Amino acid sequence: MKKNGKEQATWGGRFSCGPSELMLHFGESVSFDKILARFDVQGSIAHARMLCKIGILGKSEFSQIERGLKKILKKIESGDFKWSESLEDVHMNIEQALTSEVPVAAKLHTARSRNDQIALDMRLFFKYACSEMLSALRLLMLELVDLADKNREVFIPGYTHLQRAQPVSAAHHILAWVEMFARDVERFKFCLEGANVCPLGSGAIAGTTLPIDRLETASALGFVDPDSGEPVLTGNSMDAVADRDCFLEFAFACAVLGVHLSRVSEDVVIWNSSEFAFVRLPDEFTTGSSLMPQKKNPDSFELTRGKSARLIGNLSALFALVKALPMTYNRDLQEDKPPVFDSFSQALLCVEVLRECAPKIEFRRDKCAEAVSDPLLLATDLADYFVMRGVPFRKAHHMVGAIVALSEKLKTPIDQLDDASIFEICPQADKSWRSVFDLKRAFAMREKIGMPGPKQISEQIANWRAELANNI
Ligand code: ARG
Repeated sequence: MKKNGKEQATWGGRFSCGPSELMLHFGESVSFDKILARFDVQGSIAHARMLCKIGILGKSEFSQIERGLKKILKKIESGDFKWSESLEDVHMNIEQALTSEVPVAAKLHTARSRNDQIALDMRLFFKYACSEMLSALRLLMLELVDLADKNREVFIPGYTHLQRAQPVSAAHHILAWVEMFARDVERFKFCLEGANVCPLGSGAIAGTTLPIDRLETASALGFVDPDSGEPVLTGNSMDAVADRDCFLEFAFACAVLGVHLSRVSEDVVIWNSSEFAFVRLPDEFTTGSSLMPQKKNPDSFELTRGKSARLIGNLSALFALVKALPMTYNRDLQEDKPPVFDSFSQALLCVEVLRECAPKIEFRRDKCAEAVSDPLLLATDLADYFVMRGVPFRKAHHMVGAIVALSEKLKTPIDQLDDASIFEICPQADKSWRSVFDLKRAFAMREKIGMPGPKQISEQIANWRAELANNI
């Protein structure tokens, strides 16, 4: 090796010159994979300890390596480590720094390839990232349950086709969001479980001839079955270095979460418009216009809605990257990390923003009451009332349709039509028909599981509190 010969000591043996400056710049990943440093060091220490157990490293050699790695990690964490682009990635930067201080570290990469090393680092990363997402989601859900609790008595129209449909409570609407996030929790748990398999020992593609102990490193790194405590290992060395399912699953979980966050955001943006005016948003999470002094824009929600596009894009990028790659490792796979890191940081940020903002959303009771007083929201309840008097539902639906048409023609609200007109359309009705247009009655009659009746809402709030305290 002439050019860059010293730097590329890890693989430079068969080359007559080092990579060009342009190639070094093109091929580097350290600018983004340096965030894996602590997982890389953790993996290297476990690997070195195992090499010591099988006699490839002496005890003092291991201690020197362990001490050296810990020192380097400290330096990295305090920002004093000098990363070098020409050393390509996080693995080679750390290894090079280590060997320059601890010459015996030249033995560290025994029975290991960067292919199983990166697979390991990323699995450790996914376990960490999933647990971060899980705690962030749990805190968000707690805030939303509190917000629902505070707004049990606020009634609003529920919408289908963005047309007024049936009345619900703000609590019921907010608890619908909680349900979505609970499914996200399940997805991150699934992803965490999938990541909990140790690939170390798979080498570049076909393992190693050296007498390594894979069970030992897997246990030391926490890749154990949560029930039995037994170490969990990948079963095929080729698949272990080629597999990127965790990447897809994590990016998918983030993308679905992004879609949920975008729908919540859209609800809030609509509620916050002057046309709806159901909510007031906190100043801390809104911004003004540089031109129009009266504006208070729901930027935090718009940005969340926008960032979901990025999360979907990251998933698409990963699908395109992995599709049709021949077995096993290909350098293309270096491109698998930026989308995952981006999805993680952006999804986490969105969840944190909503968590801080949600408790400060204020429902404007007067505006909500005005909107929900539209008697047409209870047209379906009137059809149900006819059904209870023996009218087949299809017929009852038609009758109420005729009543709605009449109310439009007479420009009289449906609940203020006279009895005679109603009896003419539905002979089975009696004077009690008007009681249908009482919101209290409407909610009291919706007490089956999952419905917006007040007792149901109390129960659901209590269930979520218990669930969030125990299970998630
Ligand atoms: N930086 C590389 C990556 O992220 C590590 C694995 C490199 N392996 C190799 N054979 N060049 O994919």
